[in-house]
Order: sequence, then structure tokens, then C-alpha cells
Amino acid sequence: MSMQGSVLAVGKCLACLEFMLFPVWRGIRAGSGVAGGWSQGWGRCLRWELDSPDQKARLPVFDYPVWLVLSRGGRAKLREVCQRGRGAIRLPTEMLSIKLPQLFDIHQVPKVFREDNIISGYRHPRSSALDCVLSSFQMNNETINIWTHFLPTWYFLWRFCVLCSTMNFLTDSYTWPLLVYMLLICIYPFTSSCAHTFSTMSSESRHICYFFDYGALSLYSLGCAISYGYYVMPDCWVNSWLHQHFVPIAIGNTLFCTSLSCYSRFLELQFPQRSKALRTGAFVVPFIFDTVPLFYRILLCCSGNCGLTDALSSYCYHLLFAFLTCFLFTAHFPERLAPGRFDFFGHSHQLFHISAVVGSHFQMEGVIADMMSRRSWLVAHGVTPSFLGTIGALAVSLILNLGIIGVFSAPLLWKPCHSSNQPHTSPCECKEQ
Ligand SMILES: *[C@@H]1O[C@H](CO)[C@@H](O)[C@H](O)[C@H]1NC(C)=O
Ligand SMILES: [Zn+2]
Repeated sequence: MSMQGSVLAVGKCLACLEFMLFPVWRGIRAGSGVAGGWSQGWGRCLRWELDSPDQKARLPVFDYPVWLVLSRGGRAKLREVCQRGRGAIRLPTEMLSIKLPQLFDIHQVPKVFREDNIISGYRHPRSSALDCVLSSFQMNNETINIWTHFLPTWYFLWRFCVLCSTMNFLTDSYTWPLLVYMLLICIYPFTSSCAHTFSTMSSESRHICYFFDYGALSLYSLGCAISYGYYVMPDCWVNSWLHQHFVPIAIGNTLFCTSLSCYSRFLELQFPQRSKALRTGAFVVPFIFDTVPLFYRILLCCSGNCGLTDALSSYCYHLLFAFLTCFLFTAHFPERLAPGRFDFFGHSHQLFHISAVVGSHFQMEGVIADMMSRRSWLVAHGVTPSFLGTIGALAVSLILNLGIIGVFSAPLLWKPCHSSNQPHTSPCECKEQ
């Protein structure tokens, strides 16, 4: 059943005209005061439509509200029928259906909102917050983007809760790197799904939403660095210079990554290629840095210096999906092969979300496996996570990154452009200068 075509309606007017065609249920509010008011309308509606007396006798008379679910094409039918029945039951059409927000084509929305090779399914560029929430239940070009990060949020939260019940995150300092990592692995998909939901409130909100999305991703890279620094470092690198400076450098990386990715949004309209390159670079740098210890361990393994542990095979899958994620992000595959074909299902951004989440899942498995199996060795070699090096680092980085987002958002909030409410007139493009 298409979501666009389906309308949940409280309507007796339709039931009396077409009740042979649609399933009818007894309303949940049957018997309440509301129902009493409605039954009058029902009776009038019946009289209005069925003027031959012998026919009337065969029809059942309901004195409670009736809920109808209409399938494809139902909305048009409902509107038509209710236009006819309007006078009879004295109810505006709007009251009979929950209106889903209208969708637009690429040419009808301002440039900032356009996405290459996505032709249709755009939401109104000045949607209200409620419309944005409603639109996540309607099929548009962002629906799958929203859900492909909203559902994984719950998956990671569930994994986090299970870990909470088996580990002592409060007092066992050895678990703190994992605590930080788990917090961030829950936060980044949630932020992203919120960003995709609320990005069409205005062009300013679009930028600010994605600033937060980038900020959450770059904090996630810090979570990776903290957990890698404490659990994943190859044996021979433990207590080296790199090991001792791993987390501080990673904090620097988050600042670099957030600033550069936010800045890249301002170049998007004038220099789309440069903007994309900068943004990709902004995320690739912390990724490469975080992954250096992992690469080294995998290399060691390939040269026969280790047994292939569970953790290491998880990391291999993680890297595979990480490369796929990067490829999808940069290549805009598959929609570039068939523009307009993947507007709703299967465009690169959805695949990018899925691949990122699957990659994170394998990474999490690897980190947990390493953490459990290397504990005694790591503790014996003096690796004891400090509060400052884990939760402190997260707090510092969080504050600094929020500051950066604030700096980038301020000009957008102070100089709002007053574009009209119509999606196709005076595109809001103050970010171009
Ligand atoms: C979907 O549409 C919105 C506007 O409603 C646009 O800003 C966004 O870039 C589109 N997203 C994708 C992935 O096509
Ligand atoms: Zn996204």
C-alpha cells in the first residue's frame, strides 16, 4: 500500500456513500460525546445520498464514528466524495483527513536544497517542524535516510544497555573508553536522522542540521580513537609516542574535521566539486589516523605474526564497509546512472547510511572482543584509562565542537534571508556570497 495514497480518515460521509467498497470498523470513541454529535451528521448524510425510500431500508444505520483506511487512490476518492457530501454533513474536507505534506520536483525547490540526480520527492523548503515529523511517515526522498539511521540508533542503544548490565561502567575505569565509544555510536545515527528530518524547515536550518550531523560524526571519530588507543593498539606500539599522544591528536582531528566539513557547505553552490572534496577529506583524515594502529595489526597478521582473532576478522569487515561507505559518498552511485530512478529507494545516500552502520557494527564487535580478550595483557603493561583521557576528552571535544558549530551557525541565524513561503519563487541563496 502506498503511503502517499493512503489516508486515515474519520468519515461517515464516505461510509454512507461507498460502504460496500471499504472495510468499516466500529470507532474507538463509540459512545462518547463526540460520537453523539457525529451520528446526526450520519443520518443527514444518509438521507442526502439515498433518496429512494426502499433502498434506505436495506442499509444498516451506525450511530458511532467509523474509521476508514483507504488504499491507493483513496485520497482523491475521499476528496471527491466529501466535496459532494460537504453541504450535507457540514464538515470541511480538512477535518476528514490528516493531510500529508505536498512533495515537489527539483525545479520547484531553491538551489541549496537540490541534490544531483534526485528529481522528485522533495519536501517543502519551508516545512514546519510538525510537517517534518509527519514527512518521516510519508514516502519522500528523505524517508529512508531518516529510518536507516533512526532504527540503528535503537540497535546500538540496545547493545549499550546489554553492556551496561554486564559491565561496571561507573567504577571500572578500564571500561571507560568503551563507554565513550558506545555513547558516540548511539549519538551519531540519531543526530543524522534528526538532521534529515528537520533539514527542510529553511535553508538556514538545513545548514545548521548538517553542521550537527558533521559534528556528531567527527565526535564519533574521537570515540573510535579513544577505544582504539586503549584496546586496539598493537602490542609493540603500547607506550610509544604515538600511543601517548593518540587521544590529544584525535581531539585536534575532530576540530579540523568539524570546521572543514561545516566550511565546505558554504562552497557548495559555487564550487560543488571543491566542496565535496573538502568534505570527504575532512572525514577521511580522522578515519586514516584512527585506523593506523588497525592497519598495522592487520599488516603484522598478514606477514604471519599473529593468529587471526575474532576481533581482527571483525575489523576486516569494518574496513571493507568503511571503503564502501567512502565510495558511495563520493561516487553518487547508483543514481548517477539513472537520474530520477532512485529518488525514493536506493539512492547513494541511503546505501551510504546502511554501509556506515554495518561498518560501525563490525567495528563495535571488534572493539568489544579486543577489550575483553586483551585486558590482562594491557593492564600488565600499564594501560589504565584515566578519567581525563576518556570522558574528559569527550567533554572537552564536545564543548569545542559545539563552539565551532555555533560560530558557523551564528551568521545564518543573524542574517536570515526572507524568502517567500512559495517553494518556486525567490530561492533563498544568501549562502552563495
Ligand atoms: C531530498 O529533498 C530535500 C528537500 O526536501 C533535499 O534538500 C535533499 O537534498 C534531498 N535528499 C536527497 C538524498 O536526495
Ligand atoms: Zn545522512
